[in-house]
Amino acid sequence: MPSQRLLIKNGTVAYSNNIQKMDIFILDDKISKMGRDLSEEADKIIDATDKLVLPGGVDSHCHIEQKSASGLINSDTFHSATSAAALGGNTTVIPFAAQYAGDSLIEVVNNYHGLANRGSIVDYSMHMIIAGPSDDVITRELPKLILEGHSSIKIFMTYDRLKIDDTNILKILNQARISGAMVSVHAENHEMITNKVKELIEGGFDSPKYHTDSHPVEGEVDAFRRIIKMSDETKQPVMIFHVSSEQGLKEIEAGKKRGVKFFAETCTQYLTLNSHLLDQEKINDGAKWICSPPIRSPSDSKALWIGLEDNTLDLVTSDHAPYSFDSNGKFFKGDNPNFKEIPNGMPGLQWRLPILLDKVINKNCDLDILDFVRITSTMPAKVYGLYPSKGEIKIGSDADITIWDTKLNITLSDNMVVDGSKYNPYSGMNICCWPNEVILRGNTIVKDNLIKSKPGSGKFLSTKLSEYI
Ligand code: URP
Ligand code: ZN
Ligand code: ZN
Repeated sequence: MPSQRLLIKNGTVAYSNNIQKMDIFILDDKISKMGRDLSEEADKIIDATDKLVLPGGVDSHCHIEQKSASGLINSDTFHSATSAAALGGNTTVIPFAAQYAGDSLIEVVNNYHGLANRGSIVDYSMHMIIAGPSDDVITRELPKLILEGHSSIKIFMTYDRLKIDDTNILKILNQARISGAMVSVHAENHEMITNKVKELIEGGFDSPKYHTDSHPVEGEVDAFRRIIKMSDETKQPVMIFHVSSEQGLKEIEAGKKRGVKFFAETCTQYLTLNSHLLDQEKINDGAKWICSPPIRSPSDSKALWIGLEDNTLDLVTSDHAPYSFDSNGKFFKGDNPNFKEIPNGMPGLQWRLPILLDKVINKNCDLDILDFVRITSTMPAKVYGLYPSKGEIKIGSDADITIWDTKLNITLSDNMVVDGSKYNPYSGMNICCWPNEVILRGNTIVKDNLIKSKPGSGKFLSTKLSEYI
């Protein structure tokens, strides 16, 4: 195959701890040289004058073509979801192969490889959800899969079909430590949610807006405390997914201050959307914003921004979990479901990076562009064993680069949606930035908001537990 030489000229480039005007020379799929006024001969030159040049985003929490707690498959294919991801500036995603009780984990992972391999236009690794933790799954299948490059496990402490008890959580944490894997956790107290749901629905409080009350903050606090304790006992690092509340954040802070080694993420929606959205004039419209944990109050969002600024929180993901706003998705149980009958989740792959970057550029928070790169690309790559190939613009790394326009005036709308949800939970929000060009391993996959690559062009990234965390 002839070698490919690409030169990106005059961009404002974020690399390691610097941000500086420079050129980047890409040879084949890797970054080969960086510096001022490079004069390497190239097959293609991109003029990045006045543009921001950042590593491609790594979205380490997104549900794609996955059977969910409701029994539904997300309203997406690998092609639609990763098209959304790429248009929004991402070059790597980490979705979930979901094993339920009675399933062989090996079969589930193999099948998921088939789906991803056919459809993905960005690179990917995968988390393995374990909801049926038999001895065979934990002691035979899991170590084999970890050894074969699947070094990430996901467990749930709530949802009827997904939750596992503390005995099994401990078994999985111990096996993960022995075999070398990261364990991510959906941590909410299941009994507190179940009791609240019953109380609300029996009392006739069953419209979408009551979803928020059905997931009390105390449930997050209790589950965080428990999983941090189990992480400490087993000496197995965990990633606490989607921190949504100020009180939950305080538990994370306390655990980290005690010296327990673990990580925590929040998501775009907890930073930028609030619970009033579930209370719409057309009652069913509130279903668009039903996700778990729920979006909460402005003061919770404010606390989460501070948690990112002081490093209590390590990274931001989308928790993309789309369900179409029709009878195949949010209303699969009928036209007037109670809040419990509405599948949980909202789309986010396309929106995470532009929304966060806008907040950084417009100084709506105390994070700078290097922080933005750290929490949306470098840290996800480090935590899940993808660094240094992914997550940074660096000589020798994969040439995964997003070139950003930053002086635009875009109003987000439903018309922009390419994922299967057919709605945009951020509609109406104004932002100043959007990817101009997205490059994956030296190849342009998006230019001027158009997809330039074929389904299946993304590749699987085999991972092992990171030495960088
Ligand atoms: O509501 C959400 N986030 N649904 C996706 C499943 C999960 O909880 O991660
Ligand atoms: Zn979750
Ligand atoms: Zn999730």
